[in-house]
Order: sequence, then structure tokens, then C-alpha cells
Amino acid sequence: MRPVLLEMDGFASFREPAAVDFREVDYFALVGPTGSGKSTVIDAITFALYGSVPRWNNRRTVANALAPTTDRGTVRLVFDLAEHRYVAARELRRAAAGGVGVKNARLERLADPDALGTPDDITEVLASDSEVTPAVEKLLGLPFEHFITCVVLPQGDFAEFLHAQPARRQEILVKLMGLEIYPRIAQAANTEAERARQRAELLAQQLEEFTDATEYAEQAAQGRVATLEEVAERVRAALPELAEHGAAVTEARRACETLTAERDRLRAVAVLAGPEELGKRERDIKAAEEAADEQLAAAEAADTAAREQLAAAPPRAPLEQARRDHMELDALERRLPATQALQRHCARALSDVTAAEEEAEGLALQARRTQEATARSHLAAALRPHLRDGAACPVCGQRVTTTPGPPAAPDLDRAEQARVRADREVERLREAWTEAFRAEQRATGELNALTGRIVALRSVLADALTREQTTAALALRERWEGAADAADARLRRARAARASAEQATTRVRREVQAAWSALEHVRDPLVTLGAPVPDRDDLAAAWTALVSWAAAAATTREAALSGAYERLARVRGELTTAEGRLVGVLATHEVALHAGRPLTETAEPAVAAALEGARQEARRLIERRKQAAKLDMQRQHKERAHQVARTLGHLLRADGFPRWLVATTLDTLVAEASGTLAELSGGQFELTHDDGGFLAVDHADADSRRPVRTLSGGESFQASLALALALSAQLPAMAAAGAAQLESIFLDEGFGALDEATLETVAATLEELATRRDQVVGIVTHIDALAERVPVRFAVRRGQGTSSIQREAP
Ligand SMILES: Nc1ncnc2c1ncn2[C@@H]1O[C@H](COP(=O)(O)OP(=O)(O)OP(=O)(O)O)[C@@H](O)[C@H]1O
Ligand SMILES: [Mg+2]
Repeated sequence: MRPVLLEMDGFASFREPAAVDFREVDYFALVGPTGSGKSTVIDAITFALYGSVPRWNNRRTVANALAPTTDRGTVRLVFDLAEHRYVAARELRRAAAGGVGVKNARLERLADPDALGTPDDITEVLASDSEVTPAVEKLLGLPFEHFITCVVLPQGDFAEFLHAQPARRQEILVKLMGLEIYPRIAQAANTEAERARQRAELLAQQLEEFTDATEYAEQAAQGRVATLEEVAERVRAALPELAEHGAAVTEARRACETLTAERDRLRAVAVLAGPEELGKRERDIKAAEEAADEQLAAAEAADTAAREQLAAAPPRAPLEQARRDHMELDALERRLPATQALQRHCARALSDVTAAEEEAEGLALQARRTQEATARSHLAAALRPHLRDGAACPVCGQRVTTTPGPPAAPDLDRAEQARVRADREVERLREAWTEAFRAEQRATGELNALTGRIVALRSVLADALTREQTTAALALRERWEGAADAADARLRRARAARASAEQATTRVRREVQAAWSALEHVRDPLVTLGAPVPDRDDLAAAWTALVSWAAAAATTREAALSGAYERLARVRGELTTAEGRLVGVLATHEVALHAGRPLTETAEPAVAAALEGARQEARRLIERRKQAAKLDMQRQHKERAHQVARTLGHLLRADGFPRWLVATTLDTLVAEASGTLAELSGGQFELTHDDGGFLAVDHADADSRRPVRTLSGGESFQASLALALALSAQLPAMAAAGAAQLESIFLDEGFGALDEATLETVAATLEELATRRDQVVGIVTHIDALAERVPVRFAVRRGQGTSSIQREAP
């Protein structure tokens, strides 16, 4: 870590913004009066990185970072590390309740390694808030405690590493050198050892399954292969003889089988059921067919005669018309007298009503006249009271001489009623007349129609047959029609009988054909055995001839069979003897035979299979022995791996190896620091260690060794500085990869305890450190002589309640 830029605002005594530019600065001094703020600058660097400061003595509280009169502060450190540039920044806030907390902590990597982390620069945020300190520890490879021991030697605490307990020092060195890796290696080695052991055990278990794969077993398998090869040779040699015996048996057996089969076939020849009866049926059906033919001819003749007779008879329709006319004429003639009487009656009624109507009209006229006379009489009677003697008559104008007495008044109403009755009678009789007239018209019309129809019928029937003749002719015709129908039915029946006879004939013919086919079927296979040729005209005779021949031939075969069986028994015996010999050989050598099949077929394949099995077994054993050897090699290999890993784990166990490394490192460190201390102390002191505890070798006191705690303040500073310088110089060479890179060292005071000569040596040593080793060296000192030798000086001042810092020329 090399500081580049430090900015403070409100941090401790720096209440106003202040910045320290470390660019191009390798060796600098912070100078200024007591209490001006020099240590605070170093604190700010530590605070920016770790959020704490050594002198607070408590990592959890940051209250001291803010002056009591300030509420907010910021610290920002730009630094370089391994070719990258980073910014660590923290903000301090005082809460209303008075507590102080850190806000907006950030660790960022700048995209541009020359930038200074202004707001415009591009950055990658590596961590924020509570993650910043762990991220810094990881980045620098140093926890806070080690940082303030090895990089910053704080004022008053610079002898921390010198005076530390051996265990703590070891812890610091383990961390600085990145030696935590070794316990991890030990753990990994132990795991690997366990894994190798398990694998070796597994391989040993697997090997147990190969106990059969011995050299003896392999030799035995090879021996069996050789034996079976010999057996195979013997089988090959024996097979031709066996085949000959087998062929003889087969031949003898075939002869027996052939004779048996021929005998059975001949015995099986039987007469087909009913060839005799079939001949009779054929004859019967022929006769039936002839009879049906005759019946049909007779029926056809009868039918023809009946039809001719019917054709000669008068036609039916005119006869039926004449019969209908006769019947109608009879009916009309029966109706004529009544119709005539009715017409006469109607004529009479008409004349009667005519006379009555004329009389009624006369009476009505008379009644009208009577009514008129009555009316006049009534008028006269009305006038008469007005007549006066001597006065002129109002009717005739003549003078009335004598006034007549009052006349009786005529009855006007009766005269009118009489006239109305007479008019009504006239009206009624007129209606009766109309009625009578219509009836007379109808009766006359009906009579005329009747007489007209009678005249017409009589004229039609004048030349026709009489009624009796017509009836007789019709009866005769119907009889002939019936005869024709009967003949027709008989003809149809005869035809059906003929057709059924024909079918029966066809059926029987087929049966006869089938019987011949059956005979051929039985005979054909027997032709080779000498079956006789059949008589084609007589089915029964043909069958009889065939059957008697078959019986004779079967008897001949039966006789030949006993000889054939004797031969078969003999050749079979010979075959069994030869087979028994071979089976014995195979059984001796445990060659399994396929049961149920001839030895000639199975013996050779069985031996070949056994031989193949034996060869496979031999190959399998060779293969298994190879596998076993390979497994054993692997097991041994794993066993060795287990031993190595176990030894490594053992050697590295419980940080034994880091301890050893630390001890070795300490030797180197102490040797280097001892040389530096000798220089710084003008040859008086050297440094050594005993089991981790530092001892000073005082050459001014008979090379006595004493604990470093007995050194004076200035001597302690010299020893601490020597150790710090040795650490800076040696760590990169000694440490494991990933260890801390101590690129800076900040010494806060301690120089005041040195005399002039020592100061000179210290100054020279620091100059060399800064220039030759390319490290940043920062010192805080009050000693002008020392400060003047440092190329860059930052003057820290305190005034107006705040500290300020400024780089002094040049
Ligand atoms: N948290 C704080 N708030 C305010 N002032 C503080 C705080 N811590 C320290 N101070 C004061 O800040 C001033 C600077 O302290 P600092 O330790 O930096 O001085 P210095 O320059 O190192 O002095 P010296 O030469 O004595 O070591 C001192 O007056 C100190 O008392
Ligand atoms: Mg100080």
C-alpha cells in the first residue's frame, strides 16, 4: 500500500478541509509543534482503511474521530496497490443523541490508475459500509492489529512487535507471511490420505474376489483343454463307424415302416357305403322322371282343349249387357201403372183447385162491392140528420119535401172484415194452384221419361236373345271357364313335378359321380402297389374287385414284416454297443450330451462346446489374473499415496510446519535486524532470539544477553526500527504467495531518544530504505536536524481551533 492522496475534513483536530498529496513522495516528514496534528495525519490514514485508530484503544467506538464541537467529518485515502489505484473513504456523523457513527464507508477501485477519485472518475465499488474493513484486510493482507504493528509504528507503541509475546509474534508473522495456507494443506493432505486409504481398502476387498485366479487354477484349465482336444480327436475317429451302424438301423426301420404303412393302407380299403342302393335309386328316379313327362303331356293336351272350347263360346260382355237390359225393362214396366195413376191424380187436383180459385175470386168481388155499398149507406146515414124540409138535398140538390126519420147506421167493420177474408181465401187458393201445377208437371215429365226408356229398351231387345236364353248362355260360358282354369292348374302341377323329378335325377347322378371319385381316390395311391383297373360300367363290381385285391395284398405284407423286424433288432444292437463305448469316453471326461438326439449329431458339438468352455475358462483365468495383478498394483500405489499424504498431514499438523517456518523466518529476521541494530547502536547491540523471545546481545557488557525489555527508550527504538526495517526488507522474499506487501512504513516519533550519532545512522538508514528499496517512508519528528535531511516535509500547524497542513518547499 502506497498512499497517494489523503483528504480530511472534520477529522479530530482537522476541523477544516485539509489534503496531503503524497504523489512522487517516497520519503517524507511530518513536522510541527506539539499538539499540532502530526499523529492525526497518520491516524487518518489508518482510519480511512480500518475505521479505527490505535490510540483510541477500542475498535468499536469512533467517538474520538470527531472533535466535540463538530458534527460531521470525512476522511478519504487514495492509495496504490499492485498496479491498481483504490479509494477508501468514511464519513463520520454525530447523531442528535450525541453518539458518533460511520456512514457511507466505501472501498472502490479506480478505472484509471492515474485518477484521484474525484466524483467524475469511473470506479468499481468493491465494498461498502460494514464490508469495507474486511475487504481492506483482504486486499492488504493485513488485519488492523498487524497494520499498526508493522506498517505504522504508532507514537509510544513502536516497540509493540519487539516486546510482543512469542505466541503473538508468531501469529503476526504467520499472517504477514501468508502461512495460514499450510494448515489448510495439512487438512487437504489428511483428507487425501483418508481417501487413498479407503481406496486401498476397497481395492483390497476387490482383490479378495479374485482368490480363484491362481496359477494352479490356470494350469489345471490348460490341462483340461489339452485332454478335451484328445477326446475330440477320438470322437472324430469313432464317428464314421457309428454313422454306418446308424444308417443300417435307419434302413431296417424304414423297411419295417414301409411294409407297415402299405399293409395299413391296404387294410383301410373299405366298400363305400351303398353303391348297390345307389344303382337302384338311379333307376327309380329315371322311371319317376318318365312318369312326370307323361303327366305333363296329358295336362298340356287337356289345357289346350279347354282353351279352344272356351274360345268357341259367345263372348261374356254382350251376354251380360243383354241380361242387364232385360232386368231394367222388367223393372220399368212394373213401375209404369203407378206413374200413370200419379199423373192422372195430379191433373185432377189441378183442375179442382182452378175451379175453387175462380169461385173465390167471384166471392171476393162481391165482398168488395158490398163494402162499397155499405160505405155509401154510411155516408147517406151521416147526411140524413142534416136534411131539412124544403131545403136542398146536399147530394142531389133537389128540394126535400119530407124529412125521413133517422136511418139505422150500417156496419162498416163487418163489411170490411168480410172483404179481407175473401181476399185471403183468393190468395191461399192461388198458392195451392201453383203447387198443384208443379206436381202435375213433374208427374207428367216422369211418365214421359219412363215410357221413352221402355220404348228404347224394347227396340234394343227386339233382336236379342230372350231373357231365358241369355241366362242359359251365361251359365254355359261360366262352366267352360272353370274347366279352363282347372286344366291350367293341373298343367302347373305337372310342370312342377317334372322339375322336381329332374332335380332328383341330377342329385342321384352327382352321388354316383361322387362314388366313382371316391373309388378313384382310394385306388389312385394303390396303383403303385398294383391295384386292378375298374370296370367303368359297374360301380359295385369295381369296388368289389378293388377290396378283394387289397385284402390279398395286405396279407402278403404282413408276412414280410416279421423278417424286417428281426433285421432291425440285430442292427440296433450293433449300434447300441458302438454308442455305449463312445458315451463312456465322454462321461469319463465330463462332456455333457444333449439328451434325446443321436450321438452322431451331438457327440462332436458336445466335445466342441466342452472344449470351448475349457478354453474360455483358461482365458478367463488369465484375464482375471491380469486384473488381480492390476488391482494389486493400484492398491500398492494407493497405499503409498496414503503413506505420503499421511506423512505430509502429520508434518504439517497443528501448525508445526508454519511454526518451523516462522522460527526459520525469525532467524533470518533477527539476523538482518541484528546487523541493522549493530549499525544503529554503533556496534554495541545485536539481536538474537531464544525460542521466540527477543534478546539483546550487549557487546559493551561482555556480550551479555538480556531481554529486550531491559533496553532503554532510545535503545528500544533502535531495536524496533531495526526489526521494522528487517520485516519490510525480508517479507517479500520469505512469505508465501498472497502474503502482505509492506510497501510503506510510518514511524511516529521515538527519534527524540537518540543521540546525535545514532540519529545520523537512523537518518542514513531511512534514506537508503526510501531510495534503494522503493518504499514509502514517513516519519513524524520534532528534530529539525532529522527533518531537514528528509526530502519532503509537511508542516502541520494548529491555529483558530483547527489543524492545517502544508507541504514545505521544495
Ligand atoms: N478526537 C479529538 N478531537 C479534538 N482534538 C483532538 C482529538 N484527538 C486529539 N486531539 C487534539 O488534537 C491535537 C493534535 O494531536 P496530535 O496527537 O496529532 O498532535 P501531535 O502533533 O502529534 O503532537 P505531539 O507532537 O505532541 O505528538 C492535540 O491538541 C490533541 O489533544
Ligand atoms: Mg504525536
